[in-house]
Amino acid sequence: KTVHAHTGAAELGPYRHFMQKEIFEQPRVVGDTLEGVTGVMPELFGDGAYKVFKEIDRVLILACGTSYYAGLTAKYWIESIAKVPVNVEIASEYRYRDSVPNPKTLVVTISQSGETADTIAALKHARSLGMEHTLTICNVATSAMVRECKLAYITRAGVEVGVASTKAFTTQLAALFLLTLSLAQANGLLSDDEEAAHLKAMRHLPSAIASVLALEPQIIAWAEEFARKENALFLGRGMHYPIALEGALKLKEISYIHAEAYPAGELKHGPLALVTDEMPVVTIAPNDALLEKLKSNMQEVRARGGQLYVFADVDSRITSGDGLHVIRLPENYGPLSPILHVVALQLLAYHTALARGTDVDKPRNLAKSVTVE
Ligand code: AGP
Repeated sequence: KTVHAHTGAAELGPYRHFMQKEIFEQPRVVGDTLEGVTGVMPELFGDGAYKVFKEIDRVLILACGTSYYAGLTAKYWIESIAKVPVNVEIASEYRYRDSVPNPKTLVVTISQSGETADTIAALKHARSLGMEHTLTICNVATSAMVRECKLAYITRAGVEVGVASTKAFTTQLAALFLLTLSLAQANGLLSDDEEAAHLKAMRHLPSAIASVLALEPQIIAWAEEFARKENALFLGRGMHYPIALEGALKLKEISYIHAEAYPAGELKHGPLALVTDEMPVVTIAPNDALLEKLKSNMQEVRARGGQLYVFADVDSRITSGDGLHVIRLPENYGPLSPILHVVALQLLAYHTALARGTDVDKPRNLAKSVTVE
């Protein structure tokens, strides 16, 4: 057992790395983050939230890295369920560009550490443009970010030691889905039945995540193959495109394989030129309305000899074949499906890095919290 001095009592237990431990803590910490949420109400985000949610007519999300991908996922949810327009910006870009402010904006920052310099600076920039309604989704209640924002939802991921963010991301998504429902409710767009159904699905998340973790042995087999590659492509559609981005970032960060993500529909607009049998293509293929479109994208890859690694749902009609490897997630989980699919990609990145022998918890060149520009 190794004990990281700066995390005090935190111990690895049966795990080899903090990142693996944190991946396996996700059922518990997503449950903790939603604990006590007996109903959807804006006050979950602080006093006065209801008034703010009624007042605003758009959302601006500011974040970096993995937290930015959580924001991109939330955009699909908020626009689809709460009918509020959302703009998601990379904090280091937003803070320096000439943007068009609107006082009726809810500025939402997403940050695990709550100390990321670019995100704090972007928040201050938005406020300097007269946007006073601020809310943060943050994992550290005592952080600068929480002090700077009027409203907040504190995720309960616990200390995240691995530089590559995992449990912070899934707890951010749980909090962002609650924000989606609260905005919908403030706009009179959430019926009691819908509220009950969404809350039931959220309460089921811990066991659904646990069933994805049970896929680890199948994912380890894929990781052996990935470890020998130098490049990888991640494809997703709709709300799973940000999950493809997050999966590519995880693989880049800890295995140093050059991975990038694309919306699956973009393949023919360029990236297909990269596809050979040396370029594994990971595809997130939930059994949703986009599946048939995705299958034709997958055909394009197969036709060029690309190796396809598909994360499907149990009821997706996709069968393994030559060059087409399929792992099935337990069930299609509706709007919360991104929270499940990302867990499989976290495991793929972790085991690929393990096979490559990199320093999983402290990858080269990276810091856990980027408190400088
Ligand atoms: C993600 O695995 C990285 N550790 C990094 O991209 C991180 O998400 C980013 O630096 C934002 O950090 P924050 O959530 O603490 O603001």
